[in-house]
Amino acid sequence: MKIEFQSGSTDEMQRTPIPATPEALLMAVLASNKRTSNPRLREIMDALLRHLHAFASEVDLSYAELELGLDFLVRIGQATGPEKHEGILLADILGLATLVGLIDAKKALASGGTEPALIGPFWRANQPIRPNGAHIASADTPGDKLFVQGRVLSLDGKPLANARVETWQASPGGLYENQDPEQEDMNLRARFQTDGEGRFSFHSVRPAGYAVPVDGPCGELLARQRRDIMRPAHLHFIVLADGYKTLATQIFDADDPNAYRDVVFGAVGSLLQSFEARSDGSYTLDLELRLEPGTMRVPLCPLP
Ligand code: BEZ
Ligand code: FE
Repeated sequence: MKIEFQSGSTDEMQRTPIPATPEALLMAVLASNKRTSNPRLREIMDALLRHLHAFASEVDLSYAELELGLDFLVRIGQATGPEKHEGILLADILGLATLVGLIDAKKALASGGTEPALIGPFWRANQPIRPNGAHIASADTPGDKLFVQGRVLSLDGKPLANARVETWQASPGGLYENQDPEQEDMNLRARFQTDGEGRFSFHSVRPAGYAVPVDGPCGELLARQRRDIMRPAHLHFIVLADGYKTLATQIFDADDPNAYRDVVFGAVGSLLQSFEARSDGSYTLDLELRLEPGTMRVPLCPLP
């Protein structure tokens, strides 16, 4: 793509120095954004610049602190690769991913749609396609048995047939298979298609809560903030259906000892649910996932 830069016409050119005040500087910086041709980019940059300048002024940011912040961002990039997405982890621990999910789902939430939850850094591309009723845990996976059955519905209760349902979860040891050499490749991951009544189902094991990865710059920040690093036990879902907005969510085990300790603020509202205990020691989870009409979009997948 050829990038073209514009030089200002004589009329628009600044002919006097910018007065040496934060306010005048901000005016000049905002003026430099005025010709941005994409209106949404112009709006976003305008707000970002205003808030960034206000933030630096509010905390009296020093140049040494700016250097530290830039170094942190560089290290976030360096810690990101095909095996690990430190950038997503950063958005998650700042609460930004949860906020953006709530903003995106504003309309759905007002009309009984399922609450969203962040995707996180562990969704993998090409999860195995499995038939409804399949076992997603390999035979050697320990833990309490769990049977999950769900329905994908529109806001007015219409079953959505042929929807794609992606699911992934940590093991009872609290690790995703990509973090754990003891587990088979793609263990506890699957892609299902809903039947004519919008149903999907699978056999699994009860997941455990876990600590988020703390071996990178996000871990340093969490330590400096003296934060709890746990997530409650949960199963992830992404539901894709033609004519409906994609739903990314998680269902949390309300009886997990970590139920109210979520370092990424994802365990909101009715997403905390009790898994039903059966007399044989196994558990069941019944779900309804309600989608808002709109455009389906496949989210970017953090892991190959
Ligand atoms: C997850 O739910 O898989 C997750 C989310 C944020 C950070 C780490 C993991
Ligand atoms: Fe998770």
